[in-house]
Amino acid sequence: MLNIIFSFVALVFLLGLVAYVLVLMANNSRILSISQEKAKLEAELFQVKIKSIMDRRELEAKQVKLAWNGFRKFQVVSKVQETKDITSFYLAPHDGKELPGFLPGQFLTFQITLPGQSQPVIRCYSLSDSPYHPDRYRVSIKRVPAPRDNPSAPPGLISNYFHDSLHENDIVDVKAPSGHFYLPMTKKTPVVLLAGGVGITPVLSMLNAITEMGSQREVWFFLGVRNKTEHVMKEHLEMVARENENVHLKVFYSAPSETDVLNGDYHVKGRVNVENFKPILPSSNFDFYICAPPPMVKDLRTDLAGWGVPKKNIHFEAFGPATVKKCKADTGTESNVKLSIQFEKSGKTLEWDTKSASLLDFAESNGIPIDSGCRAGNCGTCLTAIKSGKVDLVGEPGSEPEAGSCLACISIPKENITLDA
Ligand SMILES: Cc1cc2nc3c(=O)[nH]c(=O)nc-3n(C[C@H](O)[C@H](O)[C@H](O)COP(=O)(O)OP(=O)(O)OC[C@H]3O[C@@H](n4cnc5c(N)ncnc54)[C@H](O)[C@@H]3O)c2cc1C
Ligand code: FES
Repeated sequence: MLNIIFSFVALVFLLGLVAYVLVLMANNSRILSISQEKAKLEAELFQVKIKSIMDRRELEAKQVKLAWNGFRKFQVVSKVQETKDITSFYLAPHDGKELPGFLPGQFLTFQITLPGQSQPVIRCYSLSDSPYHPDRYRVSIKRVPAPRDNPSAPPGLISNYFHDSLHENDIVDVKAPSGHFYLPMTKKTPVVLLAGGVGITPVLSMLNAITEMGSQREVWFFLGVRNKTEHVMKEHLEMVARENENVHLKVFYSAPSETDVLNGDYHVKGRVNVENFKPILPSSNFDFYICAPPPMVKDLRTDLAGWGVPKKNIHFEAFGPATVKKCKADTGTESNVKLSIQFEKSGKTLEWDTKSASLLDFAESNGIPIDSGCRAGNCGTCLTAIKSGKVDLVGEPGSEPEAGSCLACISIPKENITLDA
């Protein structure tokens, strides 16, 4: 009897053991298949990432191929208010065809014909998002008021038109992306992106391009505004800094209000200048990309050079007022030699007025039409062929004009010249 009981217990134990081993094996193979699945998924993700980097490189290569000549019609697909004075416009091509990529930092040139006016007006606006949205472009525009020292002057023509009169589904004429202020995406060098107010637009495009590409490139992002009411893209920037260890965001308020929180809303009280960010940056060994009003750009360039940053590492763009002509004092050139300027197409030959700040101003004040946009050597709209003679530059061109031509807005004659205008 005892033998039978013992055999039964032994059998039950054996069966239990077999069942346990079977369960263990099943579990192991499940664990194995889960980890295999995980490895497979990771490999797939890696492939997607590599492919997307390759896709993006291809996108950049396609830029040149897909860029269009002249103006193309775009529809405003949405309009988003970012701050009291800055609004973003999302634009899609009206023809529904493919859109070229662009290099982060580049701008679009708009041709706007205002109601009741026969002459269109040209303005440039930087692309404010990364190039990795193949179906639309985004520009973010600040409403420009009359200058503080001349409050009775008319407010900014086109920025106010965009804010007040351009609505969703409206159509605008746009030139293909261009400009030489851009971040080369093939490089891995650490960068400092500096923005003053709405100057955030091209450097935000650079920041978004770096993070959306999954690049680990070290980025310091310095934004200067007056206070929270002007703190453009606040949530987006904070989210990008939270999600990307390589991104260091520092916001400077020059005039914080009582309710603005230090180390909450902003990090530094004061302006974005070398003195204020020197203690924050680990060294001066960075590529600096600056976009701000002209005086801030000028100060930063001088002070960065003073800190030992080589000129080749300081890249900049300034949004000057397009309408306001430079005064003679800005150019600092004076000559007693009488120079003759022949405008061949218009059939006029005139003596150069040394009070004129540029060939563009000189032509306009003599009723000779030359198209213009930025009036700062950036957009290339005033490019004019030189039939004979040479010019001097009174500003830095955003891009070198073609050989045999000049950017009339930043050129003055060096000798007698004949222009194709
Ligand atoms: C490459 C580039 C990129 C740019 N990107 C952006 C961008 O991303 N976002 C952005 O917001 N801006 C950008 N700008 C600036 C933009 O192109 C315009 O210069 C800006 O919007 C002002 O244009 P506006 O037509 O509104 O003003 P304008 O009509 O050109 O007026 C400019 C100023 O002159 C004053 N003014 C007008 N007439 C007179 C007068 N008779 N006497 C005295 N003052 C007068 C106006 O009150 C205003 O303050 C960029 C500029 C460049 C060159
Ligand atoms: S008007 Fe833009 S480059 Fe001259």
